[in-house]
Amino acid sequence: MADLNVTFAGVPFKTPVVVASGTFGFGREYGEIFDLSRLGGICVKGLTLRPRLGNPPPRIAETPMGILNSVGLQNPGVDRFIEEELPYLKTLGTNIIANISGETVEEYAEMAEKLSDAGVDLIEVNISCPNVKAGGAAFGTSCDAAASVTRAVKRAARVPVMVKLTPNVTDIAEIARAVEDAGADAVSLINTLLGMRIDINTRRPVLKNNTGGLSGPAVFPVAVRMVWQVRRAVKIPICGMGGISTGEDAVEMMLAGADIVAVGTALFRDPFAAIRVTEGIVRYLDEHQIENVTEITGKVLLN
Ligand code: SIN
Repeated sequence: MADLNVTFAGVPFKTPVVVASGTFGFGREYGEIFDLSRLGGICVKGLTLRPRLGNPPPRIAETPMGILNSVGLQNPGVDRFIEEELPYLKTLGTNIIANISGETVEEYAEMAEKLSDAGVDLIEVNISCPNVKAGGAAFGTSCDAAASVTRAVKRAARVPVMVKLTPNVTDIAEIARAVEDAGADAVSLINTLLGMRIDINTRRPVLKNNTGGLSGPAVFPVAVRMVWQVRRAVKIPICGMGGISTGEDAVEMMLAGADIVAVGTALFRDPFAAIRVTEGIVRYLDEHQIENVTEITGKVLLN
């Protein structure tokens, strides 16, 4: 069987398939139905310095081929996460990736320090949440702001730092270059695409927050294109995500330039989606007699 081991930002992953932030909670519910050590890593629900209740409902809307969410970073806050969730997560035998969002650069740095000390394996810096007013995407749409968050987190963190990029920009490659220059160890992309639905009878937006982030198969080709663009712009490794639901999708994302991939929205339809994606990657590698999964990263043959 093909070798699935990948070293990503200096961290060993036994498979290149992780689960995306916001689609797996803190792992407990999924841990009841399968062995989570079969995952390359778990990226936990986005954390903030203080607890947040999130946005008022409705905060999920269905769309053809995807969902629109405006959850608004509901979470118990970083201290309770460290106290109540991390001890369980650390027993699972997989990498734990803490996803953090802040309203200020200082908040990001404070969380990075706490989470490093608590022993997470990697920090994912969310500079791209489209659903909150303060912080969020505001940091991810400017090279200067993205770089200053990255520098602050790098100074505070004692584990590798991956910066999550928003697709809601004109040129994602220039933001990737800015965070690489600021010291990021890796980037992840794409976060959700800003969208909106309107109920034609009430003439009101379906989401209470009016707009939300689109994820799922509908965004997959956009994600592949952006991963490919970022691969050409930076040398640091890439975690590719956005609408991956099969092993074939994962292979496509890796050919575009991803070193590892994250499965997200597909988990809502099939809680075993990440395992099926992993099995699909193995099938592809075996069929093509490829020994190590790292051999396909960035190997798209352009026309
Ligand atoms: C949310 O909680 O609103 C989603 C997080 C994100 O899109 O970054």
